[in-house]
Amino acid sequence: MKATNIHTTFDRLLKRADKEALLNQKSCCLWMTGLSGSGKTTIAQGLEKKLHVDGYLTQVLDGDNIRSGINNNLGFSLADREENIRRIAEVTKLYVNSGLITINCFVSPTIDIRNMAKEIIGEADMLEVFVNTPLEVCEARDVKGLYKKARAGEIKNFTGIDSPFEAPVSPAFELKTDNQTVEESVQTLYDFVISKIKLNK
Ligand code: ADX
Repeated sequence: MKATNIHTTFDRLLKRADKEALLNQKSCCLWMTGLSGSGKTTIAQGLEKKLHVDGYLTQVLDGDNIRSGINNNLGFSLADREENIRRIAEVTKLYVNSGLITINCFVSPTIDIRNMAKEIIGEADMLEVFVNTPLEVCEARDVKGLYKKARAGEIKNFTGIDSPFEAPVSPAFELKTDNQTVEESVQTLYDFVISKIKLNK
């Protein structure tokens, strides 16, 4: 049952701008979408290290980690994916309001799901990054062995096999990882993001 008698105190808390000033950065969410095995998390790890060296405070949020904790009661039906992304977007909003830069790595397979995330986080604060790696490449890499299992019918509703993936129509940034090294992908994403997170004084 939905709670009643809730009295929020948002208006009496320190402002996001105060925290951004403290951290000397502009907060936002970099939302990486793409197939399983497309390279989202690997690129996020590299980007996070690079930004850390530059003095930026970041938080990587990724599907496998979140699904082992706060979302460990969710599967891969469309309804569960929606709830997965809804909670993640709410958590992201908390981080962004605390002045952090989040790097989100979620398949987030449909336009509707990503639009819901944008509505929660705020369109201006969510930079959609399409990690555009063809299915054949993800399947050939098969880092976690999941494509093999999906093809064998051992995993149902697997994105790209028997569950849809809708590419973003106009992402803020697109990475084509199949003809780039991880370092090159990290560097191009870094070059894109750095101007967005520098605090204009
Ligand atoms: S999402 O669709 O709800 O956004 P999320 O990013 O959290 O997915 O989780 C995807 C990860 O879960 C994949 O990288 C993969 O390791 C694992 N996984 C397990 N089953 C599936 C499945 N049926 N479809 C996609 N990913 C799956």
